[in-house]
Amino acid sequence: MKKQLFALLFALVPFTALAAGGAAVPYSMTPDLQDQASLQRGMQLFTNYCMGCHSLEHQRFARAAEDLGMPQDLVEENLIFSSDLAFNDQMHNAMAAEDAENWFGAAAPDLTLEARLRGTDWIYSYLLSFYKDPSRPTGVNNAVFELVAMPNVLEPLQGVQEMVCAESDRPHGHAELDPLTGKYQSCEVLQVTRPGAMEPEEFEEAVYDLTNFLAYVGEPSKLQAQALGPKVLIFIFIFGVIAYLLKREYWRDIH
Ligand code: HEC
Repeated sequence: MKKQLFALLFALVPFTALAAGGAAVPYSMTPDLQDQASLQRGMQLFTNYCMGCHSLEHQRFARAAEDLGMPQDLVEENLIFSSDLAFNDQMHNAMAAEDAENWFGAAAPDLTLEARLRGTDWIYSYLLSFYKDPSRPTGVNNAVFELVAMPNVLEPLQGVQEMVCAESDRPHGHAELDPLTGKYQSCEVLQVTRPGAMEPEEFEEAVYDLTNFLAYVGEPSKLQAQALGPKVLIFIFIFGVIAYLLKREYWRDIH
């Protein structure tokens, strides 16, 4: 019996948790697919700031609107900018891949499965880690994706971020912990030196929403699965009680 119990417990270990990993990134976030307001803001940011270059080939506007609780006219008026795109279309981008290669030296990849490929911590960290680097053609580099070809398209919101020598609560790059202050001394600290339209916390929230939206796009059926889960458990419980009562009824005369 004990052995069977162990086998059962083992089967319940979430393997996805074990499979996750990869290189350490400076920030982490936990997606919340139940937070519709966050997902809606994320979609709005995506269509405004990212869809000029990136597509979501496997995601339709209509499906996202339904899942995120947005009416069709609102999506058509505010989130579809290209006259070539309709409500039932996939979320294609406006730019041809060859143009991106010519302009940026790299094609902007489709991001439908990006959250599954890189993980949400990576995307979140990546979007927060652009910093000024005049030696780059785009004027920026990225602490998570070195020599990246993408410009920092969120700069109007974030402001200009630079890599400076400073004390920090978080370890950055080759940071050294100062045992007296408990802070890290490093010359790889990212700091906003010219403010943008958003305060740093506000910007982190916007990037959270954007990453949350990409997490949803990677697994849209997860939203339905999560909603279905409790119902299935309730059904199993009620069915279990009925089965037990039935069993008692059947065996009563035999015992
Ligand atoms: C002006 C065009 C452009 C815009 C707008 C843009 N990107 Fe990019 N993005 C690129 C290019 C080009 C790359 C490829 C970079 C490379 O390979 O060096 C890229 C790469 C990425 C990657 C990494 C892909 C990988 O290799 O795994 C992510 C994630 C990403 N972009 C997210 C975003 C998000 C989110 C937005 C909106 C806030 C956005 N991008 C807006 C051009 C753009």
